[in-house]
Amino acid sequence: MAFFSKGLEPMIYLDNSATTKPRKEVMDTFVKANEAFYANPASLHGMGVEAERLLTGARQQIGKLLLTEAENIYFTSGGTESNNMAIFGIARANKKRGRHVMTSVIEHPSILESFKQLEREGFEVDYLSVNRNGQVSLQELESKLRQDTILVSIMHVNNEIGTIQPIAEIAEVIHSHSRAYFHSDCVQSFGKLPVNFEGVGPDAITVSGHKINGLKGTGLLAFRHKIPFEPLLFGGGQESGMRSGTVSVPNAASLAKAMRLSVEENRSSNFQKWKKELISFFSHYEFIRIITPYESAPHILSISFRGIKGEVLVNALERQNIYVSTSSACSSRNTKTSHVIGAIHMEDEFVNGVIRISFGLYTTDDDIEDFKSAFLQAISIIKGEHL
Ligand SMILES: Cc1ncc(COP(=O)(O)O)c(C=O)c1O
Repeated sequence: MAFFSKGLEPMIYLDNSATTKPRKEVMDTFVKANEAFYANPASLHGMGVEAERLLTGARQQIGKLLLTEAENIYFTSGGTESNNMAIFGIARANKKRGRHVMTSVIEHPSILESFKQLEREGFEVDYLSVNRNGQVSLQELESKLRQDTILVSIMHVNNEIGTIQPIAEIAEVIHSHSRAYFHSDCVQSFGKLPVNFEGVGPDAITVSGHKINGLKGTGLLAFRHKIPFEPLLFGGGQESGMRSGTVSVPNAASLAKAMRLSVEENRSSNFQKWKKELISFFSHYEFIRIITPYESAPHILSISFRGIKGEVLVNALERQNIYVSTSSACSSRNTKTSHVIGAIHMEDEFVNGVIRISFGLYTTDDDIEDFKSAFLQAISIIKGEHL
């Protein structure tokens, strides 16, 4: 869908892994909740009780979607906070049982930086390597699990290249070989792949609202069951003492709405179709490598160019009002090579040419057609030749 950028030029937004445009229904819920339910849900008076009722409703709706009890859902300010909360909360509360923890080398910085902090606090951290598709090895995982391993955190879908980790198998290995808890960052998978606590899987998961057409500043940490846990924030004891601070009822209600609609109106088959179409389009050019593995998240397509820097192409496309990013929004202002691209050992000549195209709710067939023509024009200008 052609949105309008500042200059009222139609634009095509293909950076949905970085963030998404909020749905109108979600914004309506947020506004209505602020207008009618602004009381503190902890207040004893009638308005507080009404706000508390809306909050409980949101928690129950999310509990049904994730197949866990409502009281296992904790509202946060987003993916970063939920990831920090999970890692520090589980590691610190279980350190009497052991000080060994594990993650993978291609996690989001909100996970990697938290593990680095755990190292500074005296925990021993193992970082699992990945293959050229970005997948961890179950054998390596099994070989590194120990009696004193208390936590493993492995993301479901990688935000830069779209790799899907086999989280059910990972959970099976962790739970049959150790007493460690398993947390998974599901920020990029929720709403695109099935994410819930049915069957074998993680003990805790992270979801962020703004990746699913919800609002920035909304998210949650959800548990399968109660586990020993230490809060990060202390204060009034809200969220059963797990996350103090007045709960934003409008944020919680809008997150529940965004989550429900993203499951009910899942667009993955469209994303899959566009991904295939673009892969076949790019495969005509020998100077382009498809990085995203064949079996990967439907909404992310990561490619690389020999001899063209990713940011040069991003800028050339932007001049035609098409918005994509280099490997990830977090690292794209960083001139360093992304840690994910480094970890999958791409050929040197392709390392600096990465761009990520990511589809969303408002992407259309026309956007993909327009992207292709704009892309050809951008490349011919950059390479100074006719393709
Ligand atoms: C995989 C992954 N985890 C965590 C985050 C952080 O989420 P938030 O922006 O809600 O803090 C992101 C956002 O880029 C992400 O892609």
